[in-house]
Amino acid sequence: MFEPIFHCIEHHFGGDRVGLHEPVLGDVEKRYLNQVIDSGFVSTAGEMVGQFERDVAHRVGSKHAVAVVNGTAALQLSLLACGVLPGDEVVTQSLTFIATSNAIHQCGASPVFVDVTSENLGMSAAALLRWLQENVEVVDGLPINHSTGKVVRACMPMHTFGMSVEIDAIQEMCRDYGIALVEDSAEALGASFKGRSLGTFGQCGVFSFNGNKLITTGGGGMIVTDCDVIAAKTKHLSTTAKIDAYRHDVAAFNYRMPNLNAALGCAQLTRIDDLLERKRNLAKAYEIAIGQVDGVELLVGLPDGRSNNWLLNVLCDSVEIKESLSSQAQQRNIQTRSVWQLLHQSAPYRHCQTGELRVCESVADRVLSLPSMPTSVSQ
Ligand SMILES: Cc1ncc(COP(=O)(O)O)c(C=O)c1O
Repeated sequence: MFEPIFHCIEHHFGGDRVGLHEPVLGDVEKRYLNQVIDSGFVSTAGEMVGQFERDVAHRVGSKHAVAVVNGTAALQLSLLACGVLPGDEVVTQSLTFIATSNAIHQCGASPVFVDVTSENLGMSAAALLRWLQENVEVVDGLPINHSTGKVVRACMPMHTFGMSVEIDAIQEMCRDYGIALVEDSAEALGASFKGRSLGTFGQCGVFSFNGNKLITTGGGGMIVTDCDVIAAKTKHLSTTAKIDAYRHDVAAFNYRMPNLNAALGCAQLTRIDDLLERKRNLAKAYEIAIGQVDGVELLVGLPDGRSNNWLLNVLCDSVEIKESLSSQAQQRNIQTRSVWQLLHQSAPYRHCQTGELRVCESVADRVLSLPSMPTSVSQ
């Protein structure tokens, strides 16, 4: 039943075993890393960190970029810089990697989970609006959740697998309610909505450069923003809030990205257009193959969005179809992956407030990620 999909994967990737996603590393990366080793500046003081920040800012069209040790740290600093305080609430989606919620928790705030759409698996603007209308009142300029009495300080949608959320509508709602917008674009470097890079719609956006992402620094994250104050604050907080060689003005973090990782990032960025094109070609091949199979649909996102195709996914008509696709793939040495446990059902976040979660509860067990590496035997 799934033969066209397996044929597509085996034809595209070849080999005995097909993984989900692996980084593309080669001579450029070795050259940049050697340059840093020869310079002796392997830690945070080297020139590559600033270079990587400028390169990412230029790529996405933001005024500033601040490089840190990972995407989770970038989310935490973004929320802090947007004024999130202990006891506040931050609205996000239940269907996301747990780091989204952990960053909120690390600020001493609580997540509130709203639903996603089945087209993009990202925050639904309609679900957000419904939750805001039913729960939030602006009192003296502050958005207050009247069932908890807490301030809803920020909203953090996540662009799942590189597919854009309805970011323009979400942006407008946040503006109307006076809620800061932080985009968790960890998976979405190179993706856009109506021609504008994801990560640049909110007060700030965040990218991850973990080893499984489109481009990697080994581990790393980036905050992008047009706001001078947020850029200065996140950089200050990421570098132990140093005011001179001996003094610090707040208890902060040692989150700055080391030069070695930044060198890898600069090298990887030279490949990004090629990687994106390879992934577009893979998405086209999947679309044809999956079109020949009943009961499965390739998720392509919103018509106004342009995904980076970081992970390509099928939504199956039933859990049984998904399980069968996954186990047959395993028998053929093809790696697939189910989506994360919904956060409102996870141990640390079970107690949190939610909106109605009909869509994510219906789709979570029916989504399967397919091999999405930007490598192929034919390119
Ligand atoms: C949606 C999402 N948010 C946040 C993160 C955290 O990034 P990192 O692993 O770099 O801390 C990741 C991935 O790793 C992610 O997929």
